Amino acid sequence: MKPATSEPFSLARRNPPGLRQNLSRFAFAVVLPALMRLLCRLSPVCRIPGTNLVIITGFDSTQEVYSRHVDFEVPYEERVKILRWQGFVLALQDTPEYHDMYDNISRLWQPADTTRVQEIARRTAETILAETWEELDFIQDLVKPVLMAIVEQHYGVTVPDEQLQPFFDGNLAGSGFLFSGPWITKKQRETGAAAIDGVWPVLDAAMAAACANPDPTTVLGRYYSGGPDPAFSEAKLRSALMTMIGGYLPTCANASGRIMDVLLSRKDAMQFMQEAVHAKQDDSVLTGLMEALRVNYIIPFLWRRAAQDTYLGEGTTRRRTVRKGKILAVSLPTAMYDRRRIEHPKRFDPGRSPAVRMVYGHQFHHCIGASIANTVLVEMFKAVLTRQPAPARKAKNRKNRWVGAYPWNLWLALSKASAAP
Ligand code: HEM
Repeated sequence: MKPATSEPFSLARRNPPGLRQNLSRFAFAVVLPALMRLLCRLSPVCRIPGTNLVIITGFDSTQEVYSRHVDFEVPYEERVKILRWQGFVLALQDTPEYHDMYDNISRLWQPADTTRVQEIARRTAETILAETWEELDFIQDLVKPVLMAIVEQHYGVTVPDEQLQPFFDGNLAGSGFLFSGPWITKKQRETGAAAIDGVWPVLDAAMAAACANPDPTTVLGRYYSGGPDPAFSEAKLRSALMTMIGGYLPTCANASGRIMDVLLSRKDAMQFMQEAVHAKQDDSVLTGLMEALRVNYIIPFLWRRAAQDTYLGEGTTRRRTVRKGKILAVSLPTAMYDRRRIEHPKRFDPGRSPAVRMVYGHQFHHCIGASIANTVLVEMFKAVLTRQPAPARKAKNRKNRWVGAYPWNLWLALSKASAAP
């Protein structure tokens, strides 16, 4: 047995640069998408012989699976146990417990908070950029601090400096563990448990501090200054907090890096975004961001399990039987490239129908944090894209560095000359 280590959790240490990282990057960024797109053409619902697996790559089949959430349930119960995270909505079926958690979260994280999120994101991004000339590590020096500013100033979760990196890494690794597939290896189990060890104590300390001295301008302060609520216990709050942080940091960090990658590698995309930013058209900025995210999506698969023997594609020539217990690997990025429904899917085309972008899922488990994500992404990209001429890759570090499934360092050369008024 390995001796217990007291070193703080580090995603970068677990994924050191080198051949293994490069091979896994190549497999995930090049081989897997190519294979999935081929599968989408040949068999959008594909049962893998000798396994319990059905791969869903078609646009219509993905929407069918997602819209039939009672027939195709979420299969994450074992994984949330390992993360000690009861009550995570995406791991719950359509039960009273799900609706209770969902309603509690919606009461605490209110739509009107968007203005506050926007203010914090804008102020933080602009302050960073006001002090940054010539070069910037987009992920570590802009995205991470902006995301964390929302956690601290809006949620009311202060993260001590020495715990910041393990906290951030722990959230990213926890999410990676949750969505890493139908089988749990010993190594994955250990990584998941170690990752989350750096997260729960920070949340517990933040709740204790907010209880002792509630600041009603924060989400936690709002909870504690509202008086006891028997319907929303502290145990539920704890789970909700993990949900709104664990669902937020990994997705937004991942999405930001991938979107920037698209803008840097496609002139038309960068030009569209810069024009939208300079015209102060936030709606167009958001549309461009969502299109870039469709082009370069954050995660290869999300998962479902057949709750009973059933069919997919009833009434079509592609009707497929799906037996109870089968695990469905649903590939959103491939579905959003399905040529049967999306014209020229490789093109960056902000003018296409928004109905083909399923970046936040579809129907029952549709993302609860979409408005927070949209607001933060718009503010971060606006801040960096006001620079004229457009940001480019730094000459000396043209390649992004990835850590596991996450874009980690993305070096930008910024123009010194002018930040737009
Ligand atoms: C660009 C950023 C984001 C992307 C691409 C994204 C994507 C998604 C997707 C695809 C789903 C559906 C998963 C499924 O049905 O299997 C989902 C659900 C969810 N997301 Fe997000 N998300 C983002 C940001 C956020 C943020 C900021 C939060 C929290 C503040 C969040 C919290 C959640 C939660 C809790 C669910 C489950 C909702 C439910 O079960 O009803 N996400 N997200």
